[in-house]
Amino acid sequence: MSHMSAQKKILVTGGAGFIGSHVVRLFVQKYPAYHIYNLDKLTYAGNLENLKDVESASNYTFLKGDITDHGYIDGIFKAHGFDAVIHLAAESHVDRSIENPMEFVTTNVLGTAVLLNAVREHWKGQTEGKLFYHVSTDEVYGSLSDDGFFTETTPYDPRSPYSASKASSDHLVRAYNHTFHIPALVSNCSNNYGSHQFPEKLIPLMINNIVHNKPLPIYGKGENVRDWLWVNDHARAIDVIFHKGKSGDTYNIGGFNEWKNIDIVTLLCKVMDQKLGRPEGTSAELVTFVKDRAGHDFRYAIDANKLKTELGWEPSITFEKGLEATVDWYLSNQEWVASITSGAYQQYYQQQYEGR
Ligand SMILES: NC(=O)c1ccc[n+]([C@@H]2O[C@H](COP(=O)([O-])OP(=O)(O)OC[C@H]3O[C@@H](n4cnc5c(N)ncnc54)[C@H](O)[C@@H]3O)[C@@H](O)[C@H]2O)c1
Repeated sequence: MSHMSAQKKILVTGGAGFIGSHVVRLFVQKYPAYHIYNLDKLTYAGNLENLKDVESASNYTFLKGDITDHGYIDGIFKAHGFDAVIHLAAESHVDRSIENPMEFVTTNVLGTAVLLNAVREHWKGQTEGKLFYHVSTDEVYGSLSDDGFFTETTPYDPRSPYSASKASSDHLVRAYNHTFHIPALVSNCSNNYGSHQFPEKLIPLMINNIVHNKPLPIYGKGENVRDWLWVNDHARAIDVIFHKGKSGDTYNIGGFNEWKNIDIVTLLCKVMDQKLGRPEGTSAELVTFVKDRAGHDFRYAIDANKLKTELGWEPSITFEKGLEATVDWYLSNQEWVASITSGAYQQYYQQQYEGR
């Protein structure tokens, strides 16, 4: 591409959130020939602090707005003429979806439909080089017992309001691809961990509580199993799929890395004792078992071999290394943690884990 040719304009939604900020950073830094527009409503989960290192890049623009606002979305499509969308904006926390399902239906289902209608309207008849990339979760496949894996052809069986809303949005993307020939694809990823994750999710929650000597709340007996992927590796996978994936296709993304919750917390306690110079076993004493989450899925495990064999992606680091890098990041970014765990978060935390 010569420097005279028009820049490819990519709309990333939810770019101020955990995964979105890693995707925005990767694309802004790696592709000077792209202009990245980050559209985010800045809910409790969105934070422009996450993008401080790219905010002044000449190929980056922040747009504050709501994906459910049809008029606004139509306006930015008219103004900027996006060539592609990477859609990450969502309500993303299962516990919050049990407290307030309607917010999940509105943002995840309606918001995705609004974006799809916008591309349908604005790309009409001109789909060459265009792509709607929908970022989804492995939770749409339901829950596994001790063996078996989710593949791209596993039937959907969502079981929480969060996973049901994500499943609905996946169906809409595939329906618009099939019915209106909108170039689109979906990827379904397992649990992410890494820097910049809001401390309501397991790993940063535990790190933060260990730092402050607070109890480590574990649902049930901690036997639930999840596959974990380093967020930077998810961003790398999105890059590969965005450039090489086939329209109409689905790609599972996973870490080939299953852990029981209790084993992760035990490992974290050990790493934290070392990092904080505390005698071994100190942090583990903080472990507290709490009443299980309603409808808690037992096991998610993803088979990411299609992505590996067809597109050549695989995780770049081991879980132990990624976890240590994550701990280091949280320990040297305590101000970030303090600034985002606002009063509203404290109240939520109390409701969730300490009784009302
Ligand atoms: N975190 C995981 O482990 C994981 C795993 C697989 C898939 N996913 C999916 O990846 C995406 C990103 O997840 P995350 O963990 O980074 O979430 P997050 O909660 O950290 O970030 C979501 C972002 O979306 C923004 N947002 C919310 N509602 C919006 C609206 N109406 N309009 C515009 N912006 C809005 C928020 O402000 C926030 O910046 C989600 O679609 C999620 O379902 C997450």
